[in-house]
Amino acid sequence: MTSPGARHARKAVIPVAGMGTRFLPATKAIPKELLPVVDRPALEYIVAEAARAGLPEVLMVTGRNKAAIEDFFDRVPELEAALEKKGDDGRLAAVHSSTEVAQVHFVRQGEAKGLGHAVLQAAAFVGQEPFAVLLGDDIIDERDLLLEQMLAVQAEHGGSVIALLDVGMENIDKYGAVAVEPTSDGRDVVAVTGLVEKPPVDEAPSSLAIIGRYVLAPEVFEVLRETAPGRGGEIQLTDALATLVERGEPVHGVVFSGRRYDTGDRLDYLKAVVQLASERDDLGPPLRAWLHEFVSQLPRDGASPS
Ligand code: G1P
Repeated sequence: MTSPGARHARKAVIPVAGMGTRFLPATKAIPKELLPVVDRPALEYIVAEAARAGLPEVLMVTGRNKAAIEDFFDRVPELEAALEKKGDDGRLAAVHSSTEVAQVHFVRQGEAKGLGHAVLQAAAFVGQEPFAVLLGDDIIDERDLLLEQMLAVQAEHGGSVIALLDVGMENIDKYGAVAVEPTSDGRDVVAVTGLVEKPPVDEAPSSLAIIGRYVLAPEVFEVLRETAPGRGGEIQLTDALATLVERGEPVHGVVFSGRRYDTGDRLDYLKAVVQLASERDDLGPPLRAWLHEFVSQLPRDGASPS
C-alpha cells in the first residue's frame, strides 16, 4: 500500500491514440485532439492544465496517424522567424507557448486495446511514483482547480484519486460508474468502494461518473498487466481500479462541481467553443453581442430557422 505523503505526482500521461470516429470526416486526416477549441487545439488546454498543476513532464500515448500532434508540440523555426520579422509578438508568444508549456514525450500504443492498455504504455516513463492521467475530451475551466485538489488528496491519503461528476442516471451508461462512501474530508471527497465500466442504467451503483482526470498509484501498472479485456473487448482502466479497491488500496473520488467543457461529441464541442470564446477578452464582446441577436431570431420550438 502507498504510504500517505511518501511521493508526490510529478508526471502526467495523456492518451491520444483514439480514432475520433465521432468527428469523421474531419478526423480522417487531423487527430481529434488537434481540433481547435476557439484557436487552440483541445490538447493544448489539457497540457496547460497539467503544467499549471505542477506536472511539467508529460507523456502522450499516441497511435497511427497522430504525427501532427508531435509536430504541434515541436518548434517551427521558419514560422517563428517570419512572425519575428513581422513584429507579430502576440502570435509569436502563442506559437511559443505550445512548446514551452511542458516537456512533452511520446510513446506509441501500437494496437488500440483500450484506455487501460494505453496507460500501461506509460509504465517505464512513470516508474514508481504516483502520476496523473488526463483524458483529452474533457476541458476543465482554468479557474476550477480540480487536478490540484486531486493531487492534494493523493498526497494526503496515498493510493489513487479519480474525478467524479454527477451525470444523472440517464447518462451513466456512457461512463465508468462508482459506488462511494462519505469521508471526513468534506462533501466533495469520497471513498470509492466499487467501480464498473459503462453499466446498464439499472445496474449502475450511482449516478457518479468518472470524468477524465485520474491521479494513480504506480501499483496500477501491475494490475493492468493482469487485467483481462472487459467492456467492448478492451482493457479498461476502470476494471484495474476496481481490483485496487478489492485489494484494499485507497481510492478516493473528488466530486467536481465546477465548469467542464466536453469536447468529445459534436454538440458538446460546439457548446464548448461558444462558451469559451464568449468569455475571451478579445472575441467575447463582439461574439456575445452577435449571439444575443442570433438567439432572439431563433424559433423557440427547435424547428430550423428559415
Ligand atoms: C473513458 C473511461 C470511462 C470514463 C470516461 C470519461 O471512457 O473508460 O470510465 O468515464 O473515459 O470520459 P471513453 O470516453 O474513452 O469511452
